[in-house]
Amino acid sequence: MFQSPLFQGLSPQEVRTALGHFVPRRYRKGQLIFKEGDLGQALYLVAGGMVRLFRTHLGGQERTLGLLSQGEVFGEMSLLDGSPRSASAEMLEEGELYLLFREEYQSLLRRLPQFGHNLALLLAERLRAANLLLDFLVFEEVEVRVAFALWRAYQKTGQALLPLSHAQVAGLAGSSRESATRALHALRKRGALELERGAVRILDPRLLEEIAHGLV
Ligand code: CMP
Repeated sequence: MFQSPLFQGLSPQEVRTALGHFVPRRYRKGQLIFKEGDLGQALYLVAGGMVRLFRTHLGGQERTLGLLSQGEVFGEMSLLDGSPRSASAEMLEEGELYLLFREEYQSLLRRLPQFGHNLALLLAERLRAANLLLDFLVFEEVEVRVAFALWRAYQKTGQALLPLSHAQVAGLAGSSRESATRALHALRKRGALELERGAVRILDPRLLEEIAHGLV
């Protein structure tokens, strides 16, 4: 069984109990899981594969909110407040998600109150990350933002080959596609990464980290 912050403080038996409330579902690479504005009834736990969360602006430009891998959770906002989905979610690789529907969530809360506390911790962490990102967008140059976004994706997934297009990198770094492409080429010239078709390969994570933190 994999680790998840959702199960923090629960015994193995309680984790099994909690998982009994989820429904597993397989998704294809590139499959849309849900769209911003949809009505949502479930939260999702990533069992395998990589998920991208993104918001689309009026002109069609996308901003990626995050890449999620095994053990991470999304879709809790609509589950909690019944509002439409605040972002879209797509599968970047084939994988499996565990869905927790509202009635099951409520029954799980009654059995394991710790589960609700874990979800609250997750929301607090997300707000902290959003504040950091806001500082970053306001204060840093595009090359640093692109380096930081890629370094974080690398750290998070443990994969050197990140299946991201230039537009998706732009979305992660909060920049235009053109500026992201310029920054990617600059980072390639510095030896931090290599550009492949529809993907970025991290060659030197240490260098990328230093650039991301403005050290070089
Ligand atoms: P929900 O609104 O149900 O569907 C979209 C999901 O994206 C949302 O729940 C959260 O799980 C996730 N999400 C929304 N905003 C952010 C953000 N700023 N950072 C990370 N995840 C987010």
